[in-house]
Amino acid sequence: MPIVEGVVVEGDHRGRELGFPTANLMPREDEVCPEDGVYAGHVIRADGTRHVSAISVGRRPTYYDEEGRLVVEAHLLDFDGDLYGERLIVQIDEFIRPQLRCNSVAELRQRIADDVAAVRASRVARGDIPG
Ligand SMILES: Cc1cc2nc3c(=O)[nH]c(=O)nc-3n(C[C@H](O)[C@H](O)[C@H](O)COP(=O)(O)O)c2cc1C
Repeated sequence: MPIVEGVVVEGDHRGRELGFPTANLMPREDEVCPEDGVYAGHVIRADGTRHVSAISVGRRPTYYDEEGRLVVEAHLLDFDGDLYGERLIVQIDEFIRPQLRCNSVAELRQRIADDVAAVRASRVARGDIPG
């Protein structure tokens, strides 16, 4: 199970506008990361709490061309709080789909909503979270 660890940095502040705020980690280019895609996994906070998350690894092709910076973004399910500056461990364990270049913000929002539903269903089935 790949793990990415780092301090949460400021993103482009698009996440809240999309309805899915994310904690963004910027791995070094030489850091071992899973291939670009969307995954189910967990975020472990500095206080030890573990949160089921929908995780995006990639260069946000909807907004940036090939030169976009590699970002690991985690949307923590059922969580509403400020994670900026906090050190997180991101455990990536189930591939959901590749990164897509969406044609509109509405399309990307729908994709992410579907991802979050898929993560929830998978984790409820495993007993990680209540249904
Ligand atoms: C579950 C999930 C799936 C995502 N899938 C894509 C994708 O397929 N294509 C893309 O360009 N960005 C994708 N993103 C990244 C969004 O573009 C990004 O979260 C949004 O632009 C907010 O960025 P910000 O945190 O820098 O403001 C995904 C994000 C999440 C949480």
